[in-house]
Amino acid sequence: MIYRAGRHFLQIPGPTNVPERVLRAMSRPTIDHRGPEFQTLGHELLGGLREVFGTDQPVVIFPASGSGAWEAALVNTLSPGDRVLMVETGHFATLWKQIALKLGLEVELIPGDWRHGVDPETVEARLVEDSEHTIKAVCVVHNETSTGVASRIPIVRSAIDQARHPALFIVDTISSLASIDYRHDEWSVDVTVGASQKGIMLPPGLSFNAVSEKALVAHGKALLPRAFWDWGAVLTANKNGFFPYTPATNLLYGLHEALSMLRDEGLPNVFVRHARHAEATRRAVRAWNLEVLCVDPDEYSGSVTAVMTPPGHDADRLRSIVLDRYDLSLGVGLGKLSGVVFRIGHLGDLNDLSLLGTLAGVEMGLAVSGIPHEPRGVDSAMRYLEGEGAPVGQVDGA
Ligand SMILES: Cc1ncc(COP(=O)(O)O)c(C=O)c1O
Repeated sequence: MIYRAGRHFLQIPGPTNVPERVLRAMSRPTIDHRGPEFQTLGHELLGGLREVFGTDQPVVIFPASGSGAWEAALVNTLSPGDRVLMVETGHFATLWKQIALKLGLEVELIPGDWRHGVDPETVEARLVEDSEHTIKAVCVVHNETSTGVASRIPIVRSAIDQARHPALFIVDTISSLASIDYRHDEWSVDVTVGASQKGIMLPPGLSFNAVSEKALVAHGKALLPRAFWDWGAVLTANKNGFFPYTPATNLLYGLHEALSMLRDEGLPNVFVRHARHAEATRRAVRAWNLEVLCVDPDEYSGSVTAVMTPPGHDADRLRSIVLDRYDLSLGVGLGKLSGVVFRIGHLGDLNDLSLLGTLAGVEMGLAVSGIPHEPRGVDSAMRYLEGEGAPVGQVDGA
């Protein structure tokens, strides 16, 4: 491989850029995962993780990508033939559905156009109709990474409550955790699914289930086969700071460091930073005269923006030009959005200038690939970040 000077711009919506501090933490020698030093690490980690999920309840860690945590959420709470209600928000909701089907669940899918989030009214209407309570869980993706649409979880919660339905509420926060405001306890979510490689700023390889009391009761009765994914053994071992399997020790070092960085910045500030970068990105898109895929401003994602290229202009060609010329990776259009959109990931360890560099790469790529646009996107993002969108306290250069 020919050396390319400067850092690669990894602006896909995960995996995200891993900060130096986390990389260094992970480079420490691996220790005995049954020894006292690990035990301290384990206790600190499990406590710190709860803050990120907004919960006082247990968070189970699996050495797996996010898909593992999808599966774990289902096999720990449901029985063969149980009916689950899912919503087709995009590619990832569709993949989760396929896992549920393979596990022997009956999936009822509310269709969607991949440009909107979960419609609480449709969920409520379906649950009201289900007077026999045959639906055992409502499973939704908080931030649909394929479309850049974030569903409003508290309103979906209210819809379930309005319908007075006892279904479990299971939420995928893989691309929203530690980027977009999320509160497992306050929003009465039963299982929150998360992963390490996005807002948490780690490499791929860890996934999470935050678990409510109600989910634990369901766990006691659930009959889907489970072995490795069983929360039971993990929760027992976690009481002493340990794991029932050989944990991914070095990723856990990284997690410990990342949690301390998130605590230093403060989660509310992390959410504001992501919201600013998302707004700056959308302003750039509009100034280019291109269209954001997400239709409803109340559902704009704070972590990823999917941008539509004009008809007849292949988004993948643009991505390939931008990669070759500027060493910038943008997210591919997934499923039926292939070639139709490119995605700008603006989550994780990102600051204003990294975002502007990304937008500059896109703007140059639009020119090189001959996509009709106004070359004013970067300028528009800069004006926002320095003015209206400046962090409080920095407006006057303070
Ligand atoms: C919202 C969402 N859910 C689930 C997944 C699947 O996770 P993984 O690819 O880590 O298995 C992803 C991956 O990007 C995702 O963005």
